[in-house]
Amino acid sequence: MTDGNGGASADLSGRVALVTGASRGIGAVTARALAAAGARVIVTDIADVDGMAAEIGGLGLRQDVTSEADWIETMAFARAEAGGLDILVNNAGIFALKPLVDTSLEEWRHMQSINVEGVFLGCKHAIPLLAERASRWAGGGAIVNMSSIAGMVGGANTVCYGTSKGAVRLLTKSLAIEVASLRIRVNSVHPGFIETAMGDQAIAAFSRSADMSEQDMRDQFARAHALGHNGQPGHVADGIVFLASDRAAFITGTELVIDGGMIAQ
Ligand SMILES: NC(=O)c1ccc[n+]([C@@H]2O[C@H](COP(=O)([O-])OP(=O)(O)OC[C@H]3O[C@@H](n4cnc5c(N)ncnc54)[C@H](O)[C@@H]3O)[C@@H](O)[C@H]2O)c1
Repeated sequence: MTDGNGGASADLSGRVALVTGASRGIGAVTARALAAAGARVIVTDIADVDGMAAEIGGLGLRQDVTSEADWIETMAFARAEAGGLDILVNNAGIFALKPLVDTSLEEWRHMQSINVEGVFLGCKHAIPLLAERASRWAGGGAIVNMSSIAGMVGGANTVCYGTSKGAVRLLTKSLAIEVASLRIRVNSVHPGFIETAMGDQAIAAFSRSADMSEQDMRDQFARAHALGHNGQPGHVADGIVFLASDRAAFITGTELVIDGGMIAQ
């Protein structure tokens, strides 16, 4: 680890990073940012990632994060094609806006399977690879798990999503303690409203339920952030690159809120 006297680098040269859900949105921009910082990036998604991999000079693989067999195959791919793994970004996720009483058990389980079990499986299968190479880096190996401000504060009609993101928050803290001796750091990020396809889906759902226009709802979201505007994927990617880098060498088990001051109020 670093000596704590400053000067640690966000240069990720020599690292291998894996980003799930990287065909678009926060995952795609994070993959670009990690590659720009020098990492060899493996992008995975249930959707096609070949274009994304080619754009950043990385590697692409179809992967459903809910499938343990896919995780085993993905780790074998990382080992064979990239020599191992140093950074895992568990980003893939889905959103839904629905009252609890209208949510079917199948819908509940589907969301938990992607947003929580996907993170569990990713951590489980990546830790042995991360541990193998952790001593190479001042900041060790790094896992960054995607939570949300919805994993920290409650909200109507988001019980299923909030439960999944709250679980990721505590999974992260407990795992950070568990793997600290392996020199693996585990942190979570908690974005506010970010302009992505999922963001558009959320705006459409919130505006329908409030009987407002989508533009009015988007403006309302913007005003709810203390900084007065919605977030962009790059705002989140910057935080993830920091947590993945040696600059965050003494940071583990914590939550980085990237929400323009929304829940500080
Ligand atoms: N956009 C926001 O406002 C916001 C806020 C807080 C947290 N988040 C979280 O950030 C992450 C990324 O969100 P986004 O806004 O970029 O969403 P997005 O919908 O634009 O992208 C999500 C990606 O995950 C992929 N995915 C979905 N299910 C998958 C599965 N089973 N296996 C593999 N990949 C799968 C999708 O194909 C898609 O490419 C999510 O975990 C989301 O909950 C988003």
